[in-house]
Amino acid sequence: MASGKTAVGLHLARELGYRLVDTGMMYRAVTWLALQRGVDLNDEEALTRLAGSAQIELGQPGQDGGATIKIDGADITAELRSPDVDRNVSLVSRVPGVRTAMVERQRGFAREGRLIMLGRDIGSVVLPDAPAKIYLDASAEVRARRRHRELAEAGLHRPEAEILRELQQRDEMDRQRHVSPLRPAADAQIIDTDNLSLEEVIERVRAAAGLPAGS
Ligand code: DC
Repeated sequence: MASGKTAVGLHLARELGYRLVDTGMMYRAVTWLALQRGVDLNDEEALTRLAGSAQIELGQPGQDGGATIKIDGADITAELRSPDVDRNVSLVSRVPGVRTAMVERQRGFAREGRLIMLGRDIGSVVLPDAPAKIYLDASAEVRARRRHRELAEAGLHRPEAEILRELQQRDEMDRQRHVSPLRPAADAQIIDTDNLSLEEVIERVRAAAGLPAGS
C-alpha cells in the first residue's frame, strides 16, 4: 500500500500506450459492492458469488490509461479509495473464491494485449511468465507520509500516526493470509523507493524492465 505503484504504472502505461490493470481497484470494487448491498463481509460464500457475478469494467488504454472502474455501467472510481473501502478490503481480498474470480479476469486481460498489471501477487501467482516483474518496496513510515500527503491534497486531513497504524495492520493481514500472501516473486527485481522521487522510481523501473530511458 502506498508504494507508488499506481503513479508509476499510470505514467508508464500512458507513455507506452499499454493498458493499466490495477488489481487492487478490482478488490476494492467488490468490497464497495458488498458494502452497498449489505453483504456480510464474513460470509465467504456470499462474497464469492458477488465476485463471480460483478460486472467490473476497466478503462481502455488511450482514454485514461485504464484507471477508470465501472460497475454495471456506473463510474465508481472516486468511491474506491474511501475510508470505508480501505478498512474492509482486506476482509474481502482474503477470501479464496473472490481471488479465484479476480485472478481469472486478470489473466483474461493479459491475453487481450500488452499491459502493466499492478498488485501484490501478479509476478508470483497471476502472471508467473510476465516478461518484467518489479516489486516496489518502501518502509511503513515513508508510505504513511505519502498517503497522508495524498489525502491532504484531496482535502482529507487525517493524523499521520493513525494512517501508519492502519497501514501496518493491513500489511500484516495481507502478508499473513493463506491465499496469495504479499511477497515478491522469486525472480522479481526489487526497488527500494524510500529515498527516491517518483521520477527516479520511474527511471529505475524503466531500466529494470529493459525500456529505453525517458526524455
Ligand atoms: O493496492 P490497493 O491498496 O488498492 O489494494 C487494496 C487491497 O486489495 C489491499 O488491502 C490488498 C488487496 N489486494 C490483493 O489482495 N491482491 C492484489 N493483487 C491487489 C490488492
